[in-house]
Amino acid sequence: MPAPSNQPFCASSIIGTGSYMPEKILTNDDLSKIVETNDEWITSRTGIKERRIAADDQATSDLASEAARRAMTAAGVKPEDIQLIIVATVTPDMFFPSTACIVQKKIGAANAVCFDISAACSGFLYALQVARHFINTGNRTTALVIGAEKLSTLINWKDRNTCVLFGDGAGAVVIRRDDAGGMNAPGRVLSTVMGSDGNLTDLLKVPGGGSACPITPENADSRPNTIHMEGRETFKHAVTRMLEAAQQALEMAGLTAADVSLVIPHQANARIISAIADRLDLPIERVFMNLDKYGNTSAATIPVALDEANKAGRLKKGDVILLVAFGGGFTWASSVVRW
Ligand code: UT7
Repeated sequence: MPAPSNQPFCASSIIGTGSYMPEKILTNDDLSKIVETNDEWITSRTGIKERRIAADDQATSDLASEAARRAMTAAGVKPEDIQLIIVATVTPDMFFPSTACIVQKKIGAANAVCFDISAACSGFLYALQVARHFINTGNRTTALVIGAEKLSTLINWKDRNTCVLFGDGAGAVVIRRDDAGGMNAPGRVLSTVMGSDGNLTDLLKVPGGGSACPITPENADSRPNTIHMEGRETFKHAVTRMLEAAQQALEMAGLTAADVSLVIPHQANARIISAIADRLDLPIERVFMNLDKYGNTSAATIPVALDEANKAGRLKKGDVILLVAFGGGFTWASSVVRW
C-alpha cells in the first residue's frame, strides 16, 4: 500500500515531555504467588520483570495530571497557555465527563478544549496526530497530549495469560506551533501514519461494561469487564503492522531506517520489538525499551519511554526518532520526530 501523502508543511514541535509512574511495584515473583506462573516464563516470553500499580485512590486523571505538570514544567509553559488537552486512554475515570476535562480541572488549564481518544495502545500517537492537525490548521497553538492508563482496573488477576502483561502509568508531551526552523526545528513532528482494522476487534478487547454487554449479577462472575486477548494472533499482527507503519512514516518524512537514531516502540513484548528492529535492520542498541520495569501500559508506553529516553540523554538535538505503536481495534500508528 503506498504511503499517504504528507502535508506540505508541518509546524508542530514537541517542546516538553513528562511522565509519572505509581510507586507500588508488582514483581514477577509477586505474581507467581497469585497465579500459576514464574519469573522465567514471563521474562523469556515478554521481557517484563515488574510493573507499577496505582493506589486505590489514584484515578487515571491523577496519573495524567502529574505527567502533564511535569511536561509543562519541562516545556516552560503555564496551565493557562494550554489550549487543547487530549487524553488517550482505555481506562477513563468514568464514562463521562472525559478524563481530559478532569485533568483540565486538576491542572487549572482553564483555556483548553478537552476530549479523550480511544485507540488502545496506539492512542498516544493517534492523539498526537489529532493535536498536530489542530495546530497545523491554525486552530490552536499549544496542546497537551497525554497517554494515561490504570490498566490494573481491567485485569482479571486469575488469568495468567493477561495479568502478567499490564501495568499503570502516564506520559505527556506539550506540542506547540512553531513555524521557524523548517523541518529541522527541534522537536518537529515530521510525519504520522495511522491505520485501523475493525474486522479484528475480537482478538483484543474488554467485552463487558459497555452498552453491548453491561455488567449484571448474572455475568459478573465471568469478569467480562477485563482484558481478553488472543496473544499469538495479536503478536503476529503487531509485528506486521508496526513494521509497515514505521516504513510508511519514514518514507513520508523522506528518510530511511538508516537515518533513525532511536526507535521508541510500544512496549508490549520484547520479542515483538526485537523482530521489528531486525526487519528494519537496526541494532537493538538503537531501540528504547523500558518494559522490563513497567510492562505494557497501553497508551502510556510511548510518552513514558520518550520522557525517560529524553531524561537519560538518549535524544540529541537533530536526532531522528521513530515512534511506533499497535493496539486493540486493531489500530496502529507511527510518527517520525526530529529532536
Ligand atoms: O499492547 C497491544 C498489543 N499486545 C501485544 O502485542 C501482545 C502480543 N502477544 C504476546 O505478547 C504473546 O502472545 C504473549 C506474551 C501474550 C503470550 O506469549 P506466547 O509465546 O504467544 O504464549 P502462548 O499464549 O502461545 O502460550 C504458550 C504457553 C501456553 O501453554 P500450553 O498451552 O502450551 O501448555 C500457555 O498456557 O504458555 C502458557 N502461558 C503461561 N505460562 C506461564 C500463558 N501465560 C503464562 C504465564 N505463565 N503467565
